Amino acid sequence: MDAKPLFFALAGLMLLMVADSGAGKSGVMLAMAEVVTACRDAVAFNLDPVGTGVGDLGEAITLEACMDDEKIVATLQFLLDLCSARARQRARYGWGNKWRVSEQHPAIVVFVDEWAQLSALAKKLLIKLLLVGRKEAIWVIGGSQFGTKEWLGEAIGPKLSSKVLGSCRRVDVTELLGGGALTEGYRPDLLRAATHTEINDAGQIYAQGLPGVPDRPVRYKVREVTSAYAARLSAERAMAGLPDLMFTLTAAGLDEAWHELLDVLADEAPAGGRGRPTALPGIVGLLREAFTFEQDPAYLTYDQLHPYLRKDDADRWGRWDDKDDKGRLRELGKALRRELDAAQVELSSERIRELDGAPRGIYLSALDAAIEGLR
Ligand SMILES: Nc1ncnc2c1ncn2[C@@H]1O[C@H](COP(=O)(O)OP(=O)(O)OP(=O)(O)O)[C@@H](O)[C@H]1O
Ligand SMILES: [Mg+2]
Repeated sequence: MDAKPLFFALAGLMLLMVADSGAGKSGVMLAMAEVVTACRDAVAFNLDPVGTGVGDLGEAITLEACMDDEKIVATLQFLLDLCSARARQRARYGWGNKWRVSEQHPAIVVFVDEWAQLSALAKKLLIKLLLVGRKEAIWVIGGSQFGTKEWLGEAIGPKLSSKVLGSCRRVDVTELLGGGALTEGYRPDLLRAATHTEINDAGQIYAQGLPGVPDRPVRYKVREVTSAYAARLSAERAMAGLPDLMFTLTAAGLDEAWHELLDVLADEAPAGGRGRPTALPGIVGLLREAFTFEQDPAYLTYDQLHPYLRKDDADRWGRWDDKDDKGRLRELGKALRRELDAAQVELSSERIRELDGAPRGIYLSALDAAIEGLR
């Protein structure tokens, strides 16, 4: 801390905040959402797979998709469609290489808390959005307990324009800020997250890539936006009226898609009660996620599937790691068979004829057919 205030512009930022539970991620994101919801030419979307994200701002938030993968995926898909539409509009209007933000055409700032807990599909869509959203004024502020690629879905962290780190692991520091960051003096690994009884270093951060702020290993402290203060702002901002998205969405040809999205978001019924897919048995969901992660190849061998299963439950799926490959894959095959039978899923492994030695694995077409059979 050098007693200088920390000011930076949020416009155009793709920001990732990594910090342990209790380090103040949601608090810092709330401080940024407070700024966004004060703008007339920007709106805030709130996504969180396991919590309520920046939901303390209540009615000042334009769209909320929390604790429901289907709603989160639908929102991300909508935003990707909006990116494509805006790119076409920019070309048509001769607007050059970035969206002209105005009250009629607001920026959308998407707050995504607990990124690491998103489904594989949601991560994929989010990463795509991070690559295409900046120019279209669809900006993402993400929060995650981990900054490494196995948690984010890809090695996207270091590529983002801005990184903010609260109390976290050393490996998060070096992955996000580079191998020499610790010796340069970036030491969020020494900060301590809050407990129930102590605030400790919650809300303290190191940062790189904040516009107008030199990259220096300085410790900053973000002023807390309390829930009570956020609730007051929420009421005030709702009274003043939120920016209206209808003009820009109609111009983008997405007014109907927007209403469909709002229907999905408004639906309280659990998935399945409204003609949408029922939840897949755990094992099928896991296998499908592995294919999604690998960008839907025609097949995956047992050996390729194994890391995904192990990542989900190391005790259960890592039991044969001391065996040689043949023994390990044989045991894996048997265990998978038992799981599929227990879940009453009609899916068999097959020999992958396209590969040398025809190892056993699963064809995507067979997996998708089995999933269809469950619906
Ligand atoms: N800027 C801040 N200054 C001081 N205390 C803060 C600040 N932001 C949050 N806190 C306090 O620290 C605690 C944890 O904050 P917060 O819930 O934001 O952490 P988190 O990183 O989001 O944790 P989790 O991953 O478990 O959601 C809370 O008690 C909160 O009041
Ligand atoms: Mg949180």
